[in-house]
Amino acid sequence: MDYGILRLPHQNSRYDEATEKLMAHELAIVMNGIGQAYIAKGYQSFGSIELFVFNVSEALSERVFSALERLSSRLALFEISGDWLKPVESYWSPYMRSDFASILKYSGKTNEAFTGMMINIGIFSSDFAGDFNMPLTVFDPMSGRGTTLYKALMVGYHATGVELNKQDAVEMNQYVKRYLKYHHYKHETLHQTIVKDGKQYGTKYTITTADTKEHYKAGEQRSLQFASGDTVMSNLYHKKRHAHVLVTDLPYGVQHSGKVVMTLLQKALPVWHAMLKTGGVAVVAYNTYHLDRAVLVDAFKAAGYNVMTEAPYDDFEHWVEQAVNRDIIVAKCER
Ligand SMILES: C[S@@+](CC[C@H](N)C(=O)[O-])C[C@H]1O[C@@H](n2cnc3c(N)ncnc32)[C@H](O)[C@@H]1O
Repeated sequence: MDYGILRLPHQNSRYDEATEKLMAHELAIVMNGIGQAYIAKGYQSFGSIELFVFNVSEALSERVFSALERLSSRLALFEISGDWLKPVESYWSPYMRSDFASILKYSGKTNEAFTGMMINIGIFSSDFAGDFNMPLTVFDPMSGRGTTLYKALMVGYHATGVELNKQDAVEMNQYVKRYLKYHHYKHETLHQTIVKDGKQYGTKYTITTADTKEHYKAGEQRSLQFASGDTVMSNLYHKKRHAHVLVTDLPYGVQHSGKVVMTLLQKALPVWHAMLKTGGVAVVAYNTYHLDRAVLVDAFKAAGYNVMTEAPYDDFEHWVEQAVNRDIIVAKCER
């Protein structure tokens, strides 16, 4: 039986081109994570549209459909029968409204579809892949103004973050409170100054909400917790071993040369390792013009991670803009 996936067109034409291979690789990781065998047949034209076609021996289950609905570049899925395309009905709906991560626009924002893909890669490569539809926790240790955290919440995960820039955390807090209030999501907010040995280490914000009033009342809630602070002190803000997946986009700016980022990573990687559950996975995006993959892989290994170097994990590199060519490292936390 053949199925075909219609790719979501992306407004950035270079990223749009890149999603041809990224979607095929993301699909491979999702299918592997849930143990669904398939044969990839590649892109095929149907009239004026192009679908990524794959073959399975039996009709897919609702569980597999609901995993496929999470693919970051998927617009629609069709069952293919001869010349006919039958749209597959929806078996899953996002936890939050789809505009939660897209309303805020700012320089340095990570592309939402890309960060959604990183979350999927992390979840489906981890020992928790079978629980993909449970309220797992995604940690972004350099969370900026929160795109990855919002994407995590949108699929029903808990989200935790740390960001050095105080103003980012203040603006996030304002934005999320305003958004939840405007869209009538029941929620509760809290913030606390983090103090250790009489010294202040920034502020931690906690926002608890739920997709419906009924779930909120029944205690079936999700939390968004983010702190203004240094990522190398992540354990001051969040519990050790709390995250199933770590997803982050390393800093790119001129003040963050490869050497600066590498020095930071030497300190941060062991701390991030301590924040992950055993069997959890880190997915870290970097600029190949600043950082050398082999050096990064060695740094992850030295910090106790098992880096996934086999296909398709070795083929996520893609051009973003003149100064940025992006790739990811996917590494499992072993103990
Ligand atoms: C590429 S940006 C992440 C953007 C984020 N994903 C978003 O969409 O808003 C990298 C972030 O790392 C933060 N950063 C740099 N050094 C840090 C540190 N030592 N601790 C925490 N955050 C840090 C920067 O302030 C920047 O916001």
